[in-house]
Amino acid sequence: DGLNLAAKAAKKLYLGTATNADQWNDTVYYSILKDNAEFGQITAANVMKWFDTEPEPGVFTFEDGDVIADFVKKTGKKLRGHNCVWHNQLPDWVVNGTFTPSELAFVVERHCYELVHHYQGQVYEAHFLTGSVHTEALNDDGTFRSDIFYDTLNSTYIPIALRAARRADPHAKLYINDYNIEGTGAKSTALKNLIKSLKREGVPIDGVGIQCHLTVGEIPTTLQQNMEEFAALGVEVAITELDMRFLNQTANAEGLAQQRADYETVIKACNAVEKCVGVTLWDFTDKYSWIPTTPPDEGYPCPWDENLKKKPAYDGIIQGFH
Ligand code: G3I
Repeated sequence: DGLNLAAKAAKKLYLGTATNADQWNDTVYYSILKDNAEFGQITAANVMKWFDTEPEPGVFTFEDGDVIADFVKKTGKKLRGHNCVWHNQLPDWVVNGTFTPSELAFVVERHCYELVHHYQGQVYEAHFLTGSVHTEALNDDGTFRSDIFYDTLNSTYIPIALRAARRADPHAKLYINDYNIEGTGAKSTALKNLIKSLKREGVPIDGVGIQCHLTVGEIPTTLQQNMEEFAALGVEVAITELDMRFLNQTANAEGLAQQRADYETVIKACNAVEKCVGVTLWDFTDKYSWIPTTPPDEGYPCPWDENLKKKPAYDGIIQGFH
């Protein structure tokens, strides 16, 4: 038994989780995290982001990220890089900087190159794009997000980041990673168009990361179809940040049964799509989720509870891989 073992039995590459190293002195948490039967892949929840890896222009600090990468190496798991370019968790010198387009192009290129190069040969994926190598480049209506990158460079920063990442590690899979692209709709369509145009222009792009920060009882019915539509463009897909919060709904036995069914539905969709390579939980316990738990109605998004006991959602994941 184990989530990663179930994923592997279903011919997926991994079931993994995001983590922060400051949680590792919690011995119960750490023992579950390191168990390869449960997790075959790790994403750094924070420490490979720009604020932590290039706090001053041209000054690269990989110590925090290396703690994660070393753990991955030691345990024999896979690493997903996260992330090169994102509007959030940027150092002040980027957010508040004034750059000409060519200055910012240089800055984006240098950051993506140095980051991916540092972890060369170690990452399965550099969703090292935000949106991922781009993380979160799009608004819900499918227009580009206004941020320092788009406002200065228009969408050209995307090929700049992807090409720099490819140069830095020719074997890393390059992903664009976003939220609210679980079902079909304006934002998914815009991302499909972006993928098509990147491919047309010969820009390297290997995959789409579908975050899946979902709400219990509200799983998009077009999830599987949508993943198939991405895959049809010649990219792989992955579920990169799965969690499932309660929102104004009580986390009693009935609620937990619904959450179990919803986890199963999401995993089943990935299982059914050949090009869906794996699933990452955005941490595995309510104790450390980025989504705060507010009893009795909100939060509780993970398959392990605040006491690190398995919830019904755990069995939902196992069933989904059957
Ligand atoms: O490290 C500081 C600490 O020194 C300080 O005392 C404390 C006080 O607030 O804050 C700590 O920083 C927090 C950081 O996480 C590390 O724990 C930030 O406040 C907090 O905002 C930050 O949240 C992260 C969030 O991204 C930022 O948007 C979450 O941990 C992280 O899980 C989350 O992950 C993102 C993905 O990267 C992209 N997709 C969405 C996902 C959820 O927001």
